[in-house]
Amino acid sequence: ARVAVLISGTGSNMAALLYASRRDDCPYEIVLVASNDPEAKGLLLAEAEGVATFALPHKGMKRAEHDTAMEKQVLASGAEYIALAGYMRILSPEFVSRWEGRMLNIHPSLLPKYKGLDTHARAIEAGDSHAGCSVHLVTAELDDGPVLGQTQVAIMPGDTPDTLAGRVLYAEHQLYSRMLEELVSRPYRADWLLAKVSELAL
Ligand code: GRF
Repeated sequence: ARVAVLISGTGSNMAALLYASRRDDCPYEIVLVASNDPEAKGLLLAEAEGVATFALPHKGMKRAEHDTAMEKQVLASGAEYIALAGYMRILSPEFVSRWEGRMLNIHPSLLPKYKGLDTHARAIEAGDSHAGCSVHLVTAELDDGPVLGQTQVAIMPGDTPDTLAGRVLYAEHQLYSRMLEELVSRPYRADWLLAKVSELAL
């Protein structure tokens, strides 16, 4: 399966997805890495690894306009799936609905806890014993949508949001490629059709 990855920053999750895809029997390949920030470090890594890249700053563009331009590149790459990996943009509902069931995101919390930003500070502040990460299908609501998998990460005494984020990132890198492999291996159309049929029956 062909996958486009959208990033805004370091792109360590994108790198994890890319290196996992080098395994001979990996069921997906990364065909495009695209960013809303031309300075995103991950773009350099992708280029060095021979993956097509695309960058388009969102400044001065309407959300839907920017989304459409990004989506055009994604479609031109032949991608069938989109993996959001630290893509710091909220996507328009139209974009999201066109990729329903085929776009996933990684979020650094045990969803449904701590949607949005500053997840680690919030988990520490709440006195949680564990933080973690979740991979979920993207729906129009931010950090919502069916969770495909999660990894728990113990919060240690003396953890700061940064030290915790570092450990959660290890877990993210493992979880994301595993969940992407699972998703692309699913009989997608059958799932999708069944879901639609049961929706209609309600
Ligand atoms: C990750 O923690 C991801 O969960 C969050 O943003 C961070 C991106 O890191 N959404 P990277 O760019 O993949 O290194």
